[in-house]
Amino acid sequence: MTTLRWNRILRLAATTGFVSMGALPAVHTLAAPAKAEAAAADGRQVIAELRREIARHDALYFRQSSPEISDTDYDDLKRQLADYEARFPEASRAVAPLPALGDDRTGLFQTHRHRDPMMSLEKAYSEKDLHTFHTRLMKQLHDDNLVYVVEPKFDGLAVSLTYENGRLVRAVTRGNGIEGEDITANALQIQNLPRSLTCDAGDGGEVHPVPQLVELRGEIYVPLAEFRRVNAEREAAGERLFANPRNLAAGTIRQVGSREVSRRGLQVVFFGLGACEPAAALPATQRAFYRRLTAWGVPGVPQLWLACGQNELIAAIDAVARARPGFEFPIDGAVAKLDSLSRQREMGAGESAPRWAVAYKFAPERAETRLRAITLQVGRTGVLTPVAELDPVQLGGTTVSRATLHNADEIARKDLRVGDFVQVERAGDVIPAVVGVNLQRRTPDVQPFIFPTRCPECDQPVAHNRGEAALRCANPGCSAQLRRRIEHFASKACVDIKGLGPAMIDALVAGGRIKELPDLYRLRGDDVAAALGRTGGKSVDRLLAAIEASKRAELWRVIYGLGIPQVGASGARELARRFGSLESLAAGTENAAGFSPGRIESETGTHAAGETARPGSTSTSAILAAARYFADPKHRALAADLIAAGLQPLMSVAEGAKAALAGKTVVLTGTLPTLT
Ligand code: IVH
Repeated sequence: MTTLRWNRILRLAATTGFVSMGALPAVHTLAAPAKAEAAAADGRQVIAELRREIARHDALYFRQSSPEISDTDYDDLKRQLADYEARFPEASRAVAPLPALGDDRTGLFQTHRHRDPMMSLEKAYSEKDLHTFHTRLMKQLHDDNLVYVVEPKFDGLAVSLTYENGRLVRAVTRGNGIEGEDITANALQIQNLPRSLTCDAGDGGEVHPVPQLVELRGEIYVPLAEFRRVNAEREAAGERLFANPRNLAAGTIRQVGSREVSRRGLQVVFFGLGACEPAAALPATQRAFYRRLTAWGVPGVPQLWLACGQNELIAAIDAVARARPGFEFPIDGAVAKLDSLSRQREMGAGESAPRWAVAYKFAPERAETRLRAITLQVGRTGVLTPVAELDPVQLGGTTVSRATLHNADEIARKDLRVGDFVQVERAGDVIPAVVGVNLQRRTPDVQPFIFPTRCPECDQPVAHNRGEAALRCANPGCSAQLRRRIEHFASKACVDIKGLGPAMIDALVAGGRIKELPDLYRLRGDDVAAALGRTGGKSVDRLLAAIEASKRAELWRVIYGLGIPQVGASGARELARRFGSLESLAAGTENAAGFSPGRIESETGTHAAGETARPGSTSTSAILAAARYFADPKHRALAADLIAAGLQPLMSVAEGAKAALAGKTVVLTGTLPTLT
């Protein structure tokens, strides 16, 4: 899919003469006027393709917190689009526009309209871009010595907090800039988030009264040490790692049910102002704004640099880059803002970003190394993920020898060949990515990578489902899939069987002692001892006890542990709440809505459980995913077998309470000042 789209974009680009793609065949040979017309039509097509591709990546980045491509590749797409839009302005107007801002609404929370819109920032990537920014301000403000504050650009999730008479009333994500999602309950789990504003005297004795209403704009982020801790824990549990701290922050704050949020050490930092009433309470400069935040007990940016004029501006941005290794928070650039708030107002804002500020994005660290091999990892649903095996190279303070290549399309798009010298990139604290190949160093003997047609583990044919980028091993009996399924089921996030790590699982599967998940609950002491290579003892007893204890795991964890495609932790919670037991879920007998898997499968576009679920919401998609899964008799048999083997999942207290309240109207008197 992606390859086709990409090839078309590149071919069209070559036809319009906009990029040189020597290797691609010319598609048209036309007379001059017809050529211009065709170029305009093709320009329109390229713009449409690029906008579609960018919108897809926006959705992956903003809504699903799981980007498929690196920031550099994404920025490249945006730059290509901007070039085309400049070259074909009419075509650009004729094609459906991209939303001005990435929309991060997920459908999981109630929406709330911001009093003042939440804007984004214009980006700069070079001194030339900074020069353009500075010149525009100089011209409009008639001042050659503009004063800027330059700050770290935190890499997390934008948030707006509203305080009324000094008390926190709401925390809302940016959403589409006009309307975001109410994440107050989760935000309250952030330790350094002020629940109320204090009214202390600032430095020099100034008193800063708290306004009647103020929207404070900031970023929720995960400190780097916490990011490393969470990923180390996930690695030990055999779970997928977070690619970067931003994904971890965004993924955590959007979890419905706030307990997980408190377990991860999220932080918040503030750097901007939305609505403020009365307006007379506004400070005169950005620096004064930070002093005021301190007096109110609000964490502002911890360090800023002052700059007067363009040269100092560039030097200050450089100073932030040099200070970066000492920061314990993730940043991806520096933000320069006019210090004077009245001048900020004078400059005003464009459609999606103010004209008085710019975000300079740091180039990620890059290194070149040899691609030694491409190996395949088999996931629990059979997805085959190609992995780049690299000659070890130093990057961002660590040695990198492996990087994910995502899927076959990605390898084809980048034309990566074993033996090539490739560029490996790491932006901040991010898992390294292969971003390109050095064609100058390519030797004639290297061959295009041909994706294996058989699974490396079980030697059965590989399948390609329509509409999916991934290739899969289609053999449900593949032992690698079984091992991954057991690892997932036993992981901390699921039924949490301590002592059942990957090595133990490998030994149990290789010894033929587990052939399907329920066999886990039929293991005897001598099975475990044989896998451990011992005759018995405490570790055998401990593991058997942990397996026994997991029979009473919470229902949602068991559902999550089944690994139903498209059902994550929040979908599993939803299913547990609606169905109440594994038997009911497998049979599709929901208490309230009368849901039936057969009906969903047979009637395209209609589904019985839609009555209470919004289209596109977690509950609809989780129910549809469960319906598809349990429509397969094998999966119904698996659930029955797990129950027969002794699994008796529990409804958690919280889920039970929610189920008990489902469909009821509850009237509360009094006030809940921190909730909507
Ligand atoms: S000022 C009017 N300052 O970057 C916009 N933003 O890419 C006010 N960000 O939406 C934002 N660090 O979420 C500002 N020191 C900083 C920042 C910062 C991170 C985020 C913010 C913004 C996004 C734009």
